[in-house]
Amino acid sequence: MSAYDELLDATIRHLEDLKSHGARYVAVAPETLRALAQPPVGGFQISNPKSRIETVATPLPSAQPAIPSAVGHSPLVIPRPAAEQPALLALPGETARVAAPLDPQAKAAAFAALRERAMACVKCPHLAASRKNVVFGVGNIDAHLMFIGEAPGADEDAQGEPFVGRAGQLLTKIIQATGLRRGDVYIANILKCRPDTPGQSAGNRKPTAEEMAACIPYLHEQIDLIAPRVIVALGAVAIEGLLGKAAGITKLRSHWQTYRGIPLMPTYHPAYLLRNQALSEKRKVWEDMLAVMEKLGMPVSQKQRNYFLKP
Ligand code: URA
Repeated sequence: MSAYDELLDATIRHLEDLKSHGARYVAVAPETLRALAQPPVGGFQISNPKSRIETVATPLPSAQPAIPSAVGHSPLVIPRPAAEQPALLALPGETARVAAPLDPQAKAAAFAALRERAMACVKCPHLAASRKNVVFGVGNIDAHLMFIGEAPGADEDAQGEPFVGRAGQLLTKIIQATGLRRGDVYIANILKCRPDTPGQSAGNRKPTAEEMAACIPYLHEQIDLIAPRVIVALGAVAIEGLLGKAAGITKLRSHWQTYRGIPLMPTYHPAYLLRNQALSEKRKVWEDMLAVMEKLGMPVSQKQRNYFLKP
C-alpha cells in the first residue's frame, strides 16, 4: 500500500470514528477545499467509492450576526465573506456536499448535545474524580471572536465557568476595552476539567499531553459549530494544545497563525499580565487585540489605539 493510500485509509478511519460519535460534518478550510479539488500528481486510486469526497460548488450564504460597535453597543453588521467560511465536507457514506451553516435551532441543539457529552465525560478518570464541575465554555455561540485559555483553575472549577478568577476578570476588562461585552464572545479552554493537584491544597499544574489530547475533540466541535472569524489563544499552553508548538509565546505572539482554517492570534495569558504589571507588556497584549479588531473590521478609536502607550 502506498503512503498516499495509508494516509487515505487513516483519514477514512478518523472520519468514520467521528461519525460513530455523532458528527455529521467536518469543517474544512477554503484552501484545503481548493487543494482537494485538484487531482494529486499520478491521479487518484479510490478503492472505496463509498468514501469518496465530492464537493458541490454552492456558495455559502453569508451569515451576518451582529457585533456591537465600540460606541454604545449598537449593532454593527460585519458580513462574513464567503471565502472565510469554513466549508463542511460530509463524512464517509453521507451525501457529500458543501453544507450551508446549520440553522439556529439545529446549531443550538448540536451545541446542547455536545455540552451534555462533555459534562458526562470520564475520559480522564483522575480529573473526573477530582473536579467539582466540567467547565464547558461560556458566551455567544454565534460569536465572531473566540478566546481559548489553558484549563480551569480553582475558581472556574467551583463556578463551572471559564475565566472567572483574577485572570478572568482581567480578560473581561480586555474584552470590554475592545468595545465588546464578555457575552458577545465565546470563551473556552483546552481542558474542560481542572488539572488535579493531589496532595496539594492550592496551586495549579499544566495539563499533560494525554489530557490535552483526550479533551481537544470537544473544543474542535465547539470551534466548528461556532465558526468564529478569529480565535485568540491565551498563553503558551493554549498554543501548545492547539498548534502543537512548544515555541515560546514570546516569539509567536503578534504573528497570525491559522487553526482549522480560522485566523488565530497568539497572545500572553492574562495571568502573565497579573505577574508582570509593566506597561510595555500590557501594550503588547493590546497591540494583539488591535490586530484582532482590525481583522474583524471593528472600529478602532484614536483613544483605543493609544491605550498603554507612555504619556
Ligand atoms: N486560566 C485559564 O487558562 N483558564 C481559565 O478558565 C482560568 C484561568
